[in-house]
Amino acid sequence: MFHQLLILFVSSTLVSSNSVQTRVMPDMATMNFQFITPCAKYSIPILSSKDLYKIKAFDENKQTVILVTGWRTTVDSSQTIDELSKAYNCRGDVNFIAIDVASCVDTLFTWSALNTEKLGEYLGKGIADLAQVVPLESIHLIGHSLGAHICGSAGRSFTTLTDEKLPRITGLDPAKPCFNEGEDLTGLMRGDADFVDIIHTNPGVLGRRDPTGDVDFYPDGIIPLPTGCYTILCAHERAWRYYVESVYPGNENNFMAKRCNSMTKLKQNRCGKTPAAPMGYATSSNLRGNYFLEVRGSSPFGMDGNKTREEQYVWCGTDLANKC
Ligand SMILES: *[C@@H]1O[C@H](CO)[C@@H](O)[C@H](O)[C@H]1NC(C)=O
Repeated sequence: MFHQLLILFVSSTLVSSNSVQTRVMPDMATMNFQFITPCAKYSIPILSSKDLYKIKAFDENKQTVILVTGWRTTVDSSQTIDELSKAYNCRGDVNFIAIDVASCVDTLFTWSALNTEKLGEYLGKGIADLAQVVPLESIHLIGHSLGAHICGSAGRSFTTLTDEKLPRITGLDPAKPCFNEGEDLTGLMRGDADFVDIIHTNPGVLGRRDPTGDVDFYPDGIIPLPTGCYTILCAHERAWRYYVESVYPGNENNFMAKRCNSMTKLKQNRCGKTPAAPMGYATSSNLRGNYFLEVRGSSPFGMDGNKTREEQYVWCGTDLANKC
């Protein structure tokens, strides 16, 4: 297991270096919206997004959450999709859609800034079509790792096409590799949606360190390995694990954070008077600045997490599946 992780890291380093210059465009035709209910998965080509509407289980009165995963070498996208879809389906008030970018990006030798922009443009077009059949304010884009930058590009392309902004993009440890090699890529930035919230869990290594959102959360501070992690992949995953935890009913305030500029100040209670605010699902769109919080090393990760409630999640997933 450990060797496997090491090899994965080495290959991600290689791909992000200038030694690989392949310019292969992603195969957009293989990109699908995967609408996931507790009982079924439906695949719809991105540019036919209006067809989601024809699926009986798709409810245009619910919020629509679209998750864009990262790239397989640094992200187990299927696990991210499984866990986040389960959490949202336990809430029951959303249409959960995933885009497994890995399935088309993996056919490349590399992903580049150019590919990221292209994938985002394509997604932006699909969302613009979708916004004709569901209310714009109900759409929430979430991206992990490379997926966060694809979301940023999708937001910009959506605005070019419609003259409107997506309401919210959440970046889960937006990827650092590939974007510091002289390639000109903005990546996910404040302004790509009305509200951009970012959770950094492997800052400076696989994830970007700098705050680029309207609000940036630094669980455990600006350190590469949060409590409980001994590998960078573990740290890079924590962003979605924290987010998933916050989605379960009752957990909205598991991760209370303070506007602050260091962990030291947080621990000394010297962060100033801005009220504490939740990281994750319940983050309010009027938050601005950098927020710090402590976390636990194992689930429930939130300092205000509750073991009993955590056991109920497992029950929720099983229960939903049994009802199918
Ligand atoms: C933990 O969650 C359970 C189930 O929601 C609840 O009954 C219990 O009161 C909670 N415990 C604490 C200490 O908040």
